[in-house]
Amino acid sequence: MLGVCYYPEQCAPALWPSDVRRMMKLGLQVVRIGEFAWSRLEPKEGVWDFSWLDQILDLLHQQGLQVVLGTPTATPPKWLIDKHPEILAVDIYTGHKRGFGARRHYDFSSDIYLEKSLAITQQLAKRYGTHPAVIGWQTDNELCCHDTTCSASNAARTAFQQWCEQRYTSTQALNEAWGNVFWSMEYPDFSSIELPLFAVTETNPAHRLAYQRFSSDQVLRFHNAMVSCIRQFAPNHFVTHNFIPMQETDVDNYSLAAALDFASYDNYPLGRTDLFFRDAPLQQRRRWMRTGHPDFATFFHDQTRGLTSGKFWIMEQQPGPVNWAEHNPHPAPGMVRLWTLEAIAHGAERVCYFRWRQAAFAQEQMHAGLLRPDDCPSPAWTEIEQVQHEITQCALEALPSTTAEVAIITGASSQWIDKIERQGAGFDYTRIHFEVYSTLRQMGLNVDFVPIHTDFSKYKLVLAPMLPILDQDFIQRCQQSTATFLFGPRTGAKTQEFRTPHNLAPGLLQQLLPLKVVAVETLPEGVEEPVLWSQMPTPPNQSLHLWNEHLECSKELEILAHSPSSGPILVRHQRFYYLGCLPTPALQRTLFAQLCQDTGIQTFDAPENVRITTRGDLHFAFNYNDSPATLDIAEQAYFVLGSATLKAHDVCIWKAVQ
Ligand code: GAL
Repeated sequence: MLGVCYYPEQCAPALWPSDVRRMMKLGLQVVRIGEFAWSRLEPKEGVWDFSWLDQILDLLHQQGLQVVLGTPTATPPKWLIDKHPEILAVDIYTGHKRGFGARRHYDFSSDIYLEKSLAITQQLAKRYGTHPAVIGWQTDNELCCHDTTCSASNAARTAFQQWCEQRYTSTQALNEAWGNVFWSMEYPDFSSIELPLFAVTETNPAHRLAYQRFSSDQVLRFHNAMVSCIRQFAPNHFVTHNFIPMQETDVDNYSLAAALDFASYDNYPLGRTDLFFRDAPLQQRRRWMRTGHPDFATFFHDQTRGLTSGKFWIMEQQPGPVNWAEHNPHPAPGMVRLWTLEAIAHGAERVCYFRWRQAAFAQEQMHAGLLRPDDCPSPAWTEIEQVQHEITQCALEALPSTTAEVAIITGASSQWIDKIERQGAGFDYTRIHFEVYSTLRQMGLNVDFVPIHTDFSKYKLVLAPMLPILDQDFIQRCQQSTATFLFGPRTGAKTQEFRTPHNLAPGLLQQLLPLKVVAVETLPEGVEEPVLWSQMPTPPNQSLHLWNEHLECSKELEILAHSPSSGPILVRHQRFYYLGCLPTPALQRTLFAQLCQDTGIQTFDAPENVRITTRGDLHFAFNYNDSPATLDIAEQAYFVLGSATLKAHDVCIWKAVQ
């Protein structure tokens, strides 16, 4: 189940045979190679050199290792940029052309780049589409990473104008849809349409939403062309892509994944925890700096699993300190093993470590690998040996995919709307979803992430923490399922073209929940206002913060909780609940516990910072504490790994005995 990212072009060929033998000895099965090697594959225009790749693929094959081949389009080489400088994207904040000398410097709207990328992809797919070592392909590398989705280039502007013409047909319709009469922003013709950039103050949110949709579509245009090319010449191989979190790219990951066999994820728990919690109190930062936050890696595993219904890989797994966060501590002993088993528990089919040997030159010299630059094993090595043994011992290869009774609805358009019109500094799409997810995970629940157009019938509970744009089809799916739904603030608050619905928020949702949001206020961070439950004694610390809606409710609604200052805050109609505020953690926990009880979802009370996940008939517990923790397992348990008492950073696995 384990693999590694390998860069044979970055080391002497004399090292290859022993590298490959050591990979085998470590028990690795998969090797990903090639994703940045354009300058070695096509050193000059039209001059191809596959000899080195042939050689290493043969070596890997001889040792029984399987290969995922990366297409090198994330790194257009210098000769190509010099010949066609228009390939370079233009930075949307400065208006400057992006420079050569790193990676991802290309413009998704460049037709010449599309052509060149297809040419090299085709060469590779033709040559290796039936190679016995190759089992599949990774397209490009972390598409849109380093803030590269949008470009301010002339090519992007022209393509945007065409995109607008296709979507709106006439400028009259576009002006009407965007409300361009406001501030005299009406466009006389499509060729006069600007990108919503470099204006004096905020540009029209409808214009910005259109630009986000367009930019995401341009990524899809590029990516789908590569995928079709690979499929044409390598019909028996899988095609995947190594995703990073959607909030880092602003791309519609659900649509991007649609062309793939499965999605992959690059898991860097310490680097991402460091960046995500950069404003957290020092005590909290210290607490998670060597383990990562207990819900942070899995927050993205579960999202990746949701991109291509059930199956995913970890294509890159952090094996030691990284080089790109603000601070880059060493993982606590045991964490590489824990992260590996955790990914498997959450549904990963393969976990590949990044990278084989730590680089002694260029940008990532400070990034750990499985080998140090002097070729000695790094501390991750023994943990991987151990986990490799445990995978066999517990038969983890054979598990069915991870399933859940609870789903969270996410989607790019909600994220875009949050970015475009935030209204209150503390209302942050990713944080809101993370907190919902974390609360559910603290209750021992498996969680799925799903797009709006899902069949909800397999879930007992569906949460939509922030879903401003709805459509009639969604309302019907809600009605047709038997799930209980909880809708959070801003649900149905915008039309497809970023207007306030005529009947006010929650717009179309009024068919399920007869209420109107008549006013919205946002509160400074740290300010909390009490919430009182109607039909039970109010537990301690029930309060709202950051976002508060004033609801006008019809008589059919049951008012479950209210705010003394603003009125009803949690209301219900049949299976549908509406929460008109952001809850603090204690209120959220009370609410979710209540919903689980009502819907018959079994929760699990684990010790603090211990997380439980179920895959097939196996239950996993992960101890993120720096000290031992003991599980209180009610049913009879048969332990296939460890015991109910977990050491610091330890994992145990058990089956329930009937
Ligand atoms: C990933 C990227 C790799 C490498 C790694 C370092 O985001 O795909 O190429 O740069 O980060 O952590």
